[in-house]
Amino acid sequence: MNTSQTVSTFTKFFTARGHRPIEGSSLVPPAGDSVLYTSAGMQPLAPYLEGAPHPLGTRLVGVQRCLRTTDLESVGDSSHLTVFQMLGSWSLGDYPGQQSLEWGLELLCDHFGLDPGMLHATVFAGDGDVGPDTGALQTWRALGVPVEALGAEDNWWSNGPTGPCGPDSEIFGWTGDGVPEGTPSTDPRWVEVWNHVTMRYRRLGDGRLEPLERPSVDTGMGLERLLMVTQGLGSVYETDLFAPWLSVLPDLWGLHPVDDRRLRSLRIVVDHLRSAIVVIGDGVRPSNTGRGYVLRRVLRRTLTELWRGEGVATLGDLPPSLVLDTGGRFGQRVSPAVVMSVLLAEERKFSGLVNRGRSLLVRLYPSGLLTDDDYAYLHDTHGLPRELVTELLAETR
Ligand code: ALA
Repeated sequence: MNTSQTVSTFTKFFTARGHRPIEGSSLVPPAGDSVLYTSAGMQPLAPYLEGAPHPLGTRLVGVQRCLRTTDLESVGDSSHLTVFQMLGSWSLGDYPGQQSLEWGLELLCDHFGLDPGMLHATVFAGDGDVGPDTGALQTWRALGVPVEALGAEDNWWSNGPTGPCGPDSEIFGWTGDGVPEGTPSTDPRWVEVWNHVTMRYRRLGDGRLEPLERPSVDTGMGLERLLMVTQGLGSVYETDLFAPWLSVLPDLWGLHPVDDRRLRSLRIVVDHLRSAIVVIGDGVRPSNTGRGYVLRRVLRRTLTELWRGEGVATLGDLPPSLVLDTGGRFGQRVSPAVVMSVLLAEERKFSGLVNRGRSLLVRLYPSGLLTDDDYAYLHDTHGLPRELVTELLAETR
């Protein structure tokens, strides 16, 4: 099943069970929201999860573009992406968590063709505040899915320090060769596919938990990871979603994945440019703070990867077809000309910074040994971030 068949199978499964489709929102949350970017499908639904009536009723289904800055450092591995799409289903005080888990298993196995023997679940083991999620535990046991109970770090979900939250149950798919081994907490070849949260509490400003009058269910499944598991691939980059990128970039910029470091480099460039296109499509522009800084950071990291070695690549060579393909997949109308002008302006700025940095390092620190004060001086006086200085120093070794 390719990407669009997967999305439509998901949506149809839930609409056949009374869920109304909702439009995905921008990556930029409404003014007043404390988060930088929409990072979960539930984010635009937070007021409804806390009790407000939703105009479309109590069962919803949708696809939401999300950005997680917490995953930036993991990008380059097989499954973390900066911007991704989340398939979601919601019961706003309607059916309970058990129903959601049963439907989840049915959809994964009977519609997406996953082997139930290749799945593993985790549930909340309880902590000092809230008891163990015995309902989810019993459901998985009755369904014959192996399950392990873990602490709040793994199986408690919230989208920030305050607001709706609760225990979650995660479904993992086996991505290793041969028969599954271990459990999600002991073997990284178990990849998290789908998270089912029972939103039973509201976290207050003083840290206390208050039970919600009307508990809800919030589920989220990363589309790219689902494709990796259903298509039986070793990484999200091998799915059909990334084919347009990977058929062009290695030749365009000499990014052939001949060893692990270069494979990582290629993945970072693909992920970061794809993310930058979507972020620019939602109206963000590079800056030194907040949202714009995230965009600046991914673009500068892309350029750092591209300029390793001979370093003559320019973002100006990015084919407009990739901008259009990416925007289309995220439900955006993006103008290749606008994206290109943002990319090139940032490239020019960064190129100036890199050239200044190189000559300053040769002049001021010929030994290549810098103290924390030196890094602070280069940052505060010359605008050179520590990570860039480290890269430039590594070039000269
Ligand atoms: N809100 C939950 C998550 O993002 C489903 O994992």
